[in-house]
Amino acid sequence: MPTINRRRGAALYYATRDGQARRIAERIFGRLAESERLASPQDLAVARPSPEDLTAASLIVLVAAVRYGKHLPEADRFLATYRSLVSPPPLALASVNLTARKPAKTTATGNAYLRKTIARHRLAPALAVAFGGRLDYRRYGWRDRQIIRFIMLLTGGPTAPDTSVEYTSWPAVDEFAARIADLQRHN
Ligand SMILES: Cc1cc2nc3c(=O)[nH]c(=O)nc-3n(C[C@H](O)[C@H](O)[C@H](O)COP(=O)(O)O)c2cc1C
Repeated sequence: MPTINRRRGAALYYATRDGQARRIAERIFGRLAESERLASPQDLAVARPSPEDLTAASLIVLVAAVRYGKHLPEADRFLATYRSLVSPPPLALASVNLTARKPAKTTATGNAYLRKTIARHRLAPALAVAFGGRLDYRRYGWRDRQIIRFIMLLTGGPTAPDTSVEYTSWPAVDEFAARIADLQRHN
């Protein structure tokens, strides 16, 4: 069973390409930093936390973006390391993707990326949620733009090539941060 050690702080990690997962991680950090022990968010493209680093945390928060049907490879690697821990701290997992722009696709059961990742790594996260990401066709190369426009066409999203929309519900992010604070407090 995961245990929380009160003497150690939570650790916050993110995996991003275009910055939205980082912005969400920073928002969570901002909400928690005043009241909780929390180290500043670390980018998994740069940091490679060891099993010892992870075991030393009282709680682990991961915010991971999805590209082409999967969480970014560094997030997957991180979860494999987490899964190998003998005594893992509780995990709060947040997925960032465009599917989650629809409210029914924001939960661990409703969001396929979250569901598959939890099943594949055989995780038992204390919290798991999906946040809508950012859609900005102007940032993407030609091929990515066409593919994402096609996916949006199939799923009823915007296809105009100059679309730039942020689907992230910041109140939902704040709610996630509040639930993390509760976990810290009640364990
Ligand atoms: C190349 C590319 C592929 C993507 N693939 C998916 C996908 O398969 N499913 C999905 O829901 N969102 C997909 N997205 C949307 C991203 O998850 C969304 O833009 C998110 O905000 C990206 O997070 P980041 O800014 O932290 O990289 C894709 C975006 C890009 C640019």
